[in-house]
Amino acid sequence: MTKRIPEPFRIKMVEPIRMTDRAYREAALAEAGLNPFLLRSEDVYIDLLTDSGTGAMSDRQWAGLLLGDEAYAGSRNFYRLAETIDRLFGYPYTIPTHQGRGAEQIVFPELVKRCGSQTPVFLSNYHFDTTKAHVEIAGAKAINVLTKVASDTARYDDWKGNFDQAELLHAIEIHGRQNVAGIIATITCNSAGGQPMSMANLRAVSGYAREMGIPMIIDATRFAENAWFIKQREDGYADRSIRDIVREMMCYGDMLTMSAKKDGMVNIGGFCAFRQDEDLFRAVQTRCVPMEGFITYGGLAGRDMEAVAIGLEEAVESDYLAYRIGQVAYLGERLRSAGVPIQYPTGGHAVFVDGAAMLPHIPADRFPAHALACELYLEAGVRAVEIGSLMLGRDPVTGKQEESPLELLRLTIPRRVYTNDHMDYIADALIAVARRAETISGLDFTYEPPILRHFTARFSWAEKAAARLPAAEMADA
Ligand code: F0G
Repeated sequence: MTKRIPEPFRIKMVEPIRMTDRAYREAALAEAGLNPFLLRSEDVYIDLLTDSGTGAMSDRQWAGLLLGDEAYAGSRNFYRLAETIDRLFGYPYTIPTHQGRGAEQIVFPELVKRCGSQTPVFLSNYHFDTTKAHVEIAGAKAINVLTKVASDTARYDDWKGNFDQAELLHAIEIHGRQNVAGIIATITCNSAGGQPMSMANLRAVSGYAREMGIPMIIDATRFAENAWFIKQREDGYADRSIRDIVREMMCYGDMLTMSAKKDGMVNIGGFCAFRQDEDLFRAVQTRCVPMEGFITYGGLAGRDMEAVAIGLEEAVESDYLAYRIGQVAYLGERLRSAGVPIQYPTGGHAVFVDGAAMLPHIPADRFPAHALACELYLEAGVRAVEIGSLMLGRDPVTGKQEESPLELLRLTIPRRVYTNDHMDYIADALIAVARRAETISGLDFTYEPPILRHFTARFSWAEKAAARLPAAEMADA
């Protein structure tokens, strides 16, 4: 059993959360069309929808807010942020953005333009949804070349976020080097389960990119968590500091995009930064002005940039990372030891439960992991999110429901928000749901939006809800 690591902080302020009873939750979920995205946050007891912008800021970050310099141009907080990014990552050219997708929307079109191809592609271990969306909006195709071991959830592997190098080279050959607008390394790889990429893989991929003159982009959203795994698992890194590892990871990229809502430890913010290409930096700055705002604020208040600068430094603290990754691993271990199938080992920010393995009687087009999300809410007021066929959607040409290779339920852990007692509560609830897995039915649409449907779709249970057993009260579990 993973050792429980006590929280390396004292709690100075609290936000009450409200427990509800089963009847209340039945009504709330029905009102939300059996879609947890449509629940009111106040009706959720423990919210594991995302780790994005849901973390708790430190006392230093809150104090930093009072140092906001809200000048339209040249805010002191911008300079502090840019200096921090240069010190941590070795990237001297920074553009703040309102969040990660803000960076994506100003960087990718410029890379497509520079590529000059009629059929541009981006290659990634795995494009996050907004990353894929912005690649496509920029007129390019997004291709994932993730290591195959990632889809074998039960099999242990240190590096389930790696690129499949042979497939990467094959994709470059098929599409033609001149059509590759960029290679995007997502660290950690969110869609694979917050799984890390090894330094060796990053070095090799970057080596190919340099050899072939392809721009190398690092999606640095969870960079600190990736660095922690490298320190724990990769030969030669155990004695290196997290900062040192971060510096090395970043030297393999030409530019980075970042959602500061994760390892930036803030509720809103993002940026892109460039290692040496000043021309590209200037061109992206020009795109920033109409899309995000002036080049020294990019959609953020001065105080927000101050909080990001402080948060980035806190994210690379070893004590914090040991607790953070340890808490996710603890929840994963509790579930695994009770026979709940999960993506193993656990990654940085979430436990991914294998919904297809848990509910084999529910077909992909009745969304097993989404059914699990509904049941977990009904059981205990815990909100999690489906990452599977519902999120994937229909084939744009044939209109047929695509079958995702994985039907996952993501239990995403916000940073510094919940204690290990909350983890035990979540584990108990999901184990109780697992015990009545065969009684859970799939879902049919009652409303299906044309795109990004998982956010607003509405459902009914495929079989009569009466077939489902009432949940045992948590006290009995
Ligand atoms: N890249 C990765 C790897 C992400 O996980 C996200 C967001 C983004 C980019 C976009 O950043 O939200 O600040 O615009 N992921 C969130 C999630 C939304 O729930 O995983 P953003």
